[in-house]
Order: sequence, then structure tokens, then C-alpha cells
Amino acid sequence: MIIHADALAGLARCADNSAQCCVTSPPYFGLRDYGVQGQIGLEATPEAYISRLVAIFREVWRVLKNDGILWINIGDSYAGSGKGGQSEDKRSSSWQPVYPNKNATYGLKPKDMIGIPWLLALALRADGWYLRQDIIWHKPNCLPESVKDRCTRAHEYIFLLSKSEKYYFNHRAIMEIADYDGRHDTRMKGSHKYSAEGIHYNNGPQSFAARGHERWQRDEFGRFLRNKRDVWTIMTQPYHNAHFATFPPELIRPCVLAGSRPRDTIIDPFFGAGTTGVVAVEEGREYIGIDINSDYCELAKKRLSNVAQQLLLFSGGVENGDYEKSTDNEQCEEKGLAVSGQGLPDECKGRVYG
Ligand SMILES: C[S@@+](CC[C@H](N)C(=O)[O-])C[C@H]1O[C@@H](n2cnc3c(N)ncnc32)[C@H](O)[C@@H]1O
Repeated sequence: MIIHADALAGLARCADNSAQCCVTSPPYFGLRDYGVQGQIGLEATPEAYISRLVAIFREVWRVLKNDGILWINIGDSYAGSGKGGQSEDKRSSSWQPVYPNKNATYGLKPKDMIGIPWLLALALRADGWYLRQDIIWHKPNCLPESVKDRCTRAHEYIFLLSKSEKYYFNHRAIMEIADYDGRHDTRMKGSHKYSAEGIHYNNGPQSFAARGHERWQRDEFGRFLRNKRDVWTIMTQPYHNAHFATFPPELIRPCVLAGSRPRDTIIDPFFGAGTTGVVAVEEGREYIGIDINSDYCELAKKRLSNVAQQLLLFSGGVENGDYEKSTDNEQCEEKGLAVSGQGLPDECKGRVYG
């Protein structure tokens, strides 16, 4: 389901506790004019930008289930750098960046990093979210920079936040192939450490020490697996129809797989070209995408319809058109979503795409 609306108004249409997971990337601070009134990112100060985002994520909190999680991808900005923010990896020749607050320093020294990702993470933590992890998205194909007084930036942050102390997180679904980690043997030896954890250590034939214990799990090809690490190396992958940086699908697939079960709902209040929806559909999840720009909603709608058609073709057998039918108004109502603005205050009215 795609809702054309401001993020706050779109979220207001969603029922409490109706989504399992949110995966999103808000517009970066001071970087881009998306050409729509009410857009986020062009606030006069970083504080105003952060407090708007905190208000939006407060609505996400309401919509998420109590054991739900939130993944936010966010980049940083420099004060008075001559361009408002971190360059996004958009490589379309027709696209020109807009630097609205070109020389603004926001009370900092020119060239200071503003620290937007951490300002947001700490503000969300103060607002009640559990700040669980900062993940580094390492971009091996980052854009070159002409700087001579610092290194070229090749990473962005992804924050993992939760509503509750305990939450749904399927770490097994995202295990990675284990590289050599310095330990020669594949079996753990028994020790008093494990005895303290309730596994009885003695030297008898049935003891943990005598039997050993497989250190790693294996996948179906016999390769060793380990818990996913917090540095994710993923190539950026511009989507040719969008005038902004889109998620590489492989960046957010682990977020969807760890953060939800099949048929759960994933929500993205800054939907753009709908990459979150694409991955959700590919992984058998439902999605709700909200975007303030109607052109992007149309773009996402077309893209998602193509993905659904392809999946139907591969799965062998549902007729064309069933995708549209399967996301009709009845289903929206089932999900607790108002349909096409019925009974909503004016500011919430916008189009709801099937
Ligand atoms: C960085 S893009 C998201 C790209 C997306 N992750 C993808 O893979 O396509 C940010 C999006 O936020 C949208 N946006 C800006 N202000 C908004 C607002 N107030 N409410 C909802 N969407 C907004 C923009 O139109 C843009 O599509």
C-alpha cells in the first residue's frame, strides 16, 4: 500500500501496533530540494530538522508492534561547506543537486561536521526508543571527493532502534559466512565459564568438555556461519528513474529478514522509489509506503507492480491483474487504514494507491 501524504499525516492513517518493522531513510539535512511544500531537510537549523524527525518517529512508535524495530539510514552534513550535506550517490547526468543552505554554519565553525546521525540517534533515545546499534554501511564504490585535508567518506550509518527491551530479531535469518576469526579449531572446549552458564562441566565421557561443541553453525552447503557483523559492505546502486539516492536492495534485505516474519508489515514513511516495498514483496511481507511527492508515489507504484508481476510469473500462475485486486480497499480497511481520505481531516487527505 502506498500513501501519498506528508509522513506525519500518512502515519496518522495507520492503526496502532499494526507494523512489525520500519525501514527508512529520511531526506538528509540541507541537501536536496525535492520540490514539494512540507518536505523534510530544508529546516533552518539542525535542531529543527531533528525535532521534526523525532515527531515523525513518535508516530512510527505508535504504529509499530511492541516487539517491533526501526532501522534508519542517515548521512551527515558539514557546516558551511559550500554544499549543505553529504553527497548522495546519484549519478544521473540530468540531475543537479540543490544546496539550499549553502554557507550556513548553524553556530558551528565552518568545516565542522554537524553530526546529524548521532544527534538523531540520541534524540530518539531520549524520546524513549532503545538505541540498540550503529551499523556502518561501507560503500566500496563511494563517490570520489576532491578533499585534501581529510579522508574520502565511504560510509553511512544505519541505526537499529527498538520499542521495547526485548523485541523480535531473527539473527539466524541474516547469519553470514564465517571468515577465519583467529581460532584454529571448530569445536568449543568445555570450561568453567560454561558451567557457570548452566552447562555442567566435568571430565566424564558425556561432559561438555569431552564431547566438544560446534563453534559455528553451517549452512546447507556445509559452510560455517556466524552472527552478522555490524559493518556491511554494499555497493551503492542508483535507480535510474529516481532523482535521489535509493537504497540498494541488499542493504535493507537483512533489516527486513531479521526484523519481521513472512506476511508481517514493513513500513517506510519516506518511501521514495519504493525500495523497501520491493524487498518486502520479494521476501513475502506486506508494506506501507508514504511519500510527500506524488511523482515518486507513481514511480514506486509502477516499480512494485513490475516486481509483483515478475514474482507471479516465477511462482507460476496467477493471472495479470490479481496484484491490483489483492491490494484493494477492503484489505486497507482490514489493516486499519483509512481509504482514500474517507472520514479524515483535510490535511490527511491524499491518494492511497492499491
Ligand atoms: C532519500 S529519499 C528515500 C529513498 C528511498 N529509501 C528509496 O529507496 O527510494 C527521501 C524521500 O523522502 C520524501 N520526503 C521528503 N519530505 C517528506 C515528508 N515530509 N513526508 C514524506 N516524505 C517526504 C522525498 O520525497 C523522498 O522521496
